[in-house]
Amino acid sequence: MKKSKILVALDYSSEQAAMQLVEKLKPELCRLKVGKELFTRCGPSMVKNIVAADFDVFLDLKFHYIPNTVAKACEAAAELGVWMLNVHSLGGEAMMQAARKTLAYENAPLLIAVTLLTSSGEKELKALGIEQTPAQFVRRLATMAKNAGLDGVVCSAQEAPLLKQQCGDDFLLVTPGIRPENTASDDQNRVMTPQQAITNGSDYLVIGRPVTQAEDPVRILSEINTQIGLVS
Ligand code: C5P
Repeated sequence: MKKSKILVALDYSSEQAAMQLVEKLKPELCRLKVGKELFTRCGPSMVKNIVAADFDVFLDLKFHYIPNTVAKACEAAAELGVWMLNVHSLGGEAMMQAARKTLAYENAPLLIAVTLLTSSGEKELKALGIEQTPAQFVRRLATMAKNAGLDGVVCSAQEAPLLKQQCGDDFLLVTPGIRPENTASDDQNRVMTPQQAITNGSDYLVIGRPVTQAEDPVRILSEINTQIGLVS
């Protein structure tokens, strides 16, 4: 079955609020992203419930620790039945390799890495003693993730053309900061429309508030799916 390239960010503070949206949605319309706030409040049972409702779930917990602990955390996440999970590339290549080794079996969840968070720019890198520009550093971290055998990275759609060139077409790019035409940019600085992001090389679009705060989330999702198509 072909599925949507849209990952809806369930940025809610309670299971009840998240489920109010989920109950309106269907797995054909979108996949779901569970992040640190919802997971910390609601825990694994919430994840299991939405997996049981047939949604593909991206567990966005950005594991970053010693290799052995990250590998065990990835194993635990996979046991929840999630479709995709992530680690933080700043944990280093050995940590990412350990995660990959744990998730090397057939039908394992997709394993991706966060590169540089958008809250860190040139100034923050300098404060850490890193002299590279954010773009150079993102490229370096993405290459490290690729070398560790990961399936892709989270990045901005602006960086997508460069990263596809560097890491190859099969390396998945998951991009937040997406805003359909005529919607508020909220606190996102550099936004792209779904269509622009796909043209730039994004494989999956993370979309939060334009869907979660829409009067009719199903309509918005259907419109975007029609614009950008589905993926196998
Ligand atoms: O509501 P909005 O579409 O801005 O939500 C975007 C989602 O993507 C949020 O869950 C946010 O944490 C996440 N994200 C982001 N920017 C990044 C990385 C992740 O907005 N650089």
